Formats: sequence, C-alpha cells, structure tokens
Amino acid sequence: IKKIGVLTSGGDAPGMNACIRAVVRTALHKGLQVTGIYQGYQGLIDANFKEMDTRSVSNIIQRGGTILKTARCLEFKTTEGRKIAYDNLKAAEIDALVVIGGDGTFTGANFFSKEFEIPIVGIPGTIDNDLYGSDYTIGYDTANNTVIEAIDKIRDTAASHERLFFVEVMGRDSGCIALNAGIAGGAEAILLPEKETAIDDLISHLEDGAIKKKSSSIVIVAEGDQNGGAYYVAKKVKEKFDHYDTKVSILGHLQRGGSPTSFDRVLASRLGFAAVNEILAGNTRITVGLRGNEIKTTPIEEAISNKEIKLSPDLLEMAEIL
Ligand code: F6P
Repeated sequence: IKKIGVLTSGGDAPGMNACIRAVVRTALHKGLQVTGIYQGYQGLIDANFKEMDTRSVSNIIQRGGTILKTARCLEFKTTEGRKIAYDNLKAAEIDALVVIGGDGTFTGANFFSKEFEIPIVGIPGTIDNDLYGSDYTIGYDTANNTVIEAIDKIRDTAASHERLFFVEVMGRDSGCIALNAGIAGGAEAILLPEKETAIDDLISHLEDGAIKKKSSSIVIVAEGDQNGGAYYVAKKVKEKFDHYDTKVSILGHLQRGGSPTSFDRVLASRLGFAAVNEILAGNTRITVGLRGNEIKTTPIEEAISNKEIKLSPDLLEMAEIL
C-alpha cells in the first residue's frame, strides 16, 4: 500500500477534523501518501480529490464540522455508483480507504470493499453514539456538553417563570444523548426511541412533582421518541395537565457543531492513528473503537448488524429514581 484515501460521510460530528489530522499525519509519518476525498462517497463518485500534506491539516484539531465536507449519497447505494467510485480510486492510485462516519457510512463501506476488494477501515464518528464496537463515538461527548449547557440555560428561565419545558434533543434512533442529558440536567422525565413511555404515565409523574410543590420541570424528549417528538408530547400533556405554563424547545442542529471537547479530540486522534496502523497491518473490513480504555477492532459487518442498545438498565433505573 502506497496511498490511502480518507473521507467523512453522514452527519458531521465534532472531532472529525482531529481524526482526519491523525490519519493524515500518521500515514505521512509511515511513508504513505494521503488523498483527501471531499463530500464523502459523493466525492468518490465525482473524483473530488486533493492530495494532503502535513500542513493541510494544520490548525484544525479544535474545529467542529469536517474540512473534507460530508454528504449523504444515494448514488453510492447503487452498484453502478460504486463502480464509478472504484474506477476513480484506481485512476488516482488509491490503494485503501479510511472512512469516518456512522451506520450508513459503514454499510456503504461493507458493500464496496466486498465488491471491489478495496481495503477499508471504518472509524465511528457520529454524535448519536449508536455504533457497536466502540463505547463512545467521535462527537458524542461534545454534543452531550453542548446539550447540557443549553439545558442549564433553559432551567434558569423555567425556574424563574415556573414553567414546564419539553426539550427535544437529537437522536432519530438513539436515546444516548437524551439519557445522558436527562441525568446530567436533572430532568423530570426522559422519553427515548428505545423505550415506550405512555403519556398518561408521564402525566401522573408530573402530577406527583406538582403535589411535591415542584415549581418547574424539564422533560427531555429524544427526536425519535416513540410518541412522536416534543411538540406532540407537549400538546398531549397539556390536554390533561395544565398545572404549569408549557413551552417546547427543539435544540436541533446546534448539537452537531462546536469545538470538540478534549475527550473527543483525544478519542479521534487515537482512532485515526489506529486505523492507519490497521491498514498497514493488512487488516480490512473492520472498524476501530474504544472499549474500556483500549483500542479494539470489530468486523465491519458486526458493527452494522449488532444493534445492541447502549442504554444500560442501571442508568435507566437511576434516571427514574433521581
Ligand atoms: O446521525 C446524527 C444525526 O444528528 C441524528 O441524531 C439526526 O436524527 C440526524 O443526524 C439528522 O440528520 P440531517 O442533518 O441529515 O437532517
């Protein structure tokens, strides 16, 4: 292997730049050439390539987003699209790929590397923390910190006005951010995609709080909550429970931006470094992740098929009690 390509795909996550930097600098240090592929898999199809040197990743470790841009590419889901991508890789003499992203990114990588025998190592980068094989994904810690900052601010105004706030956080299929935010933000209740919460149960819980003279409350609702999101839940609660003035706050895409935390920068650097070493060791169709405090690999197929839920029963129980 003489040259590797690196790309970011799917939703951006803080720490992706730190990871790109680690991939580029590790590869250069080991005598490889590195090509940056712009806009994820779309860039493979469009041959949107740029050679990277050590300076092209200067001053990015602290920046959110991804300097390589990202996209959710439908064409790469077709065999024809992947054939164009492969021809472009061959023409550019790229021998292996490092892909940074989430579930969709790994699914594309799995198809591609099977069809065309191209070595690929995946790095888990998504704020959702919903990938098997790594205790934490790049961006999750930063998103949690962003969310908690927002909740603390909302709590100030909730308490001052004696209001009930429904705060919606990201996570179409994953309740990791919601559970973490609920615990760290001292929420009254947490509604998750993975667990059904009946509106009537939520109401009786809020009534208990009112009886205990709680003057304000915050309910965290994950974007993919089974009831249908914060606006819907707020409307349904209001129909039967009007003890408080009720407000809804959707945190939205601000959760994906911002400077990565120290944890995410170090995690991203470790995973980028490990990915290049795995390619050089001849390993392919794997992902690298952090388990315990060690870097471990997982077959990419397992990373996408194992839907083990990361919400530990201990945490769920604790959240209810506290
Ligand atoms: O996968 C990360 C994520 O932020 C999810 O939590 C969210 O549901 C989704 O991306 C939003 O995607 P988009 O920015 O494409 O609307």
